[in-house]
Amino acid sequence: MADLGSDFVVVANRLPVDLETLPDGSTRWKRSPGGLVTALEPILRSNKGAWVGWPGVPDANPDPIIQDGVELHSVPLSAREIEDYYEGFSNATLWPLYHDVIVKPVYDREWWTAYVAVNRKFTEATADVAAQGATVWIQDYQLQLVPKMLRMLRPDLTIGFFQHIPFPPVELFMQLPWRTEIVEGLLGADLIGFHLPGGAQNFLYLARRLAGQSTSRGSVGVRSKLGVVQVGFRTVRVGAFPISIDSGQLDEMSKRKDIRDRAKQIRKELGNPKRIMLGVDRLDYTKGIDVRLNALMELFEESRIDPEETVMVQLATPSRERVESYVRLRSDIEQVVGRINGEYARVGHGVLHYLHRPIPREELIAFFVAADVMLVTPFRDGMNLVAKEYVACRSDLGGALVLSEFTGAAAELRQAYLCNPHDLEDLKGSIIAALEQDRETGRKKMRALRRQVLTHDVDRWAKSFLNALSHGGVAGSALLEDDDVRL
Ligand code: ADP
Ligand code: G6P
Repeated sequence: MADLGSDFVVVANRLPVDLETLPDGSTRWKRSPGGLVTALEPILRSNKGAWVGWPGVPDANPDPIIQDGVELHSVPLSAREIEDYYEGFSNATLWPLYHDVIVKPVYDREWWTAYVAVNRKFTEATADVAAQGATVWIQDYQLQLVPKMLRMLRPDLTIGFFQHIPFPPVELFMQLPWRTEIVEGLLGADLIGFHLPGGAQNFLYLARRLAGQSTSRGSVGVRSKLGVVQVGFRTVRVGAFPISIDSGQLDEMSKRKDIRDRAKQIRKELGNPKRIMLGVDRLDYTKGIDVRLNALMELFEESRIDPEETVMVQLATPSRERVESYVRLRSDIEQVVGRINGEYARVGHGVLHYLHRPIPREELIAFFVAADVMLVTPFRDGMNLVAKEYVACRSDLGGALVLSEFTGAAAELRQAYLCNPHDLEDLKGSIIAALEQDRETGRKKMRALRRQVLTHDVDRWAKSFLNALSHGGVAGSALLEDDDVRL
């Protein structure tokens, strides 16, 4: 057990930065992809704690570094562990299972063995870093066994867990051969957070149904009610804490003259179209990139959008590039992009601009400022921070947000053009409504959306979770009184 160490430790599969090897063999750190890092980075900077995670490449084990006052501790993973634990169990089993089985999850026993072993590795690394009595905050589906493992190793710690992706309904979760182990793993935490009340309820039901049934060590009584699971003598609290972004910072940045000038320049570079539509996503099959491109193609075909007047930009960060379903997705998307431009572009005037790379933060904000219509159309998404980022960047009250009902963000952003991405006609109708909105309607909607996003930022999210975690003695009713925490 560590004598010294950090009082506040975040544990996530990834560090906030990835180690990158340059052609000359030297290394440097670059920002990691995804919403988890976007959300947690500002929190750790203000809490000055430690972050335990994988540095993003095989076999790398750099010494701990301090970045913006945060200690970064690496958990090294071998190429085989990355294949079986990260690409396999995390992203070809759990990710599709938790996202409505959009693609078929693979259940592989070797992947499960690797998941258990790597969760143990993260547990041991965390136990070495955490000070006596520290608060440890474990993140996301890759590490669902860590709460229980860590409690057994370090009963002195206060342990929180937050799930950044949806938690599936019983009908789907019950497919998982290791369903009991996962639920019991999570129940090692003192507080388990989900984005939405629905996820919390799914978990509470499954905890009642599955946990405490292991026979090897007799049965531990598990009861659950009103956001509280009683595991033997221990109380585990479960709640909904919708995550957010550093909206104040984005709002400020989007007002900067250099960024507004860049937004104008982007419009010019696109040929000064009347309307710019934008998509910003990791290249992931949950995001509904294909369905929005199909909608665009049909709208061109039906002459409901004029390709001379409207241009679309799709920014797609490469993601999980060795997982088969992602390889297939990339090829499908690139085929549709080629088809749309083949049919509707002319020399010097592309109608669909597709960039398969991460875009620097300031450039991304300039794109948000330039976009007249933002398309966020996932089939399922725990929250979707891109929708909130777009709204935070529109202090001019311009722009329109088309938002899938199947995102966590839709629960808060009710004034968006909400749509069902499984219904192509509905999606097309929402796109047209957003493109054709009158100025006053648009301003009214954007004002209301911004009120929500600017008053519910990531700092408020973290405080509400960490307050609930530190008031461990208080029963579930205290959670019910907080308007951020809905059960
Ligand atoms: P997820 O966590 O599933 O990737 P979110 O929408 O919650 O989805 O978060 C994605 C984060 O990654 C956001 O902060 C977004 O700005 C960023 N991002 C997405 N696509 C790109 C891109 N092409 N370039 C740079 N950042 C991106
Ligand atoms: C989502 C997940 C995160 C993950 C991120 C990027 O936001 O919830 O846990 O880090 O996607 O995915 P990657 O597999 O590149 O870490």
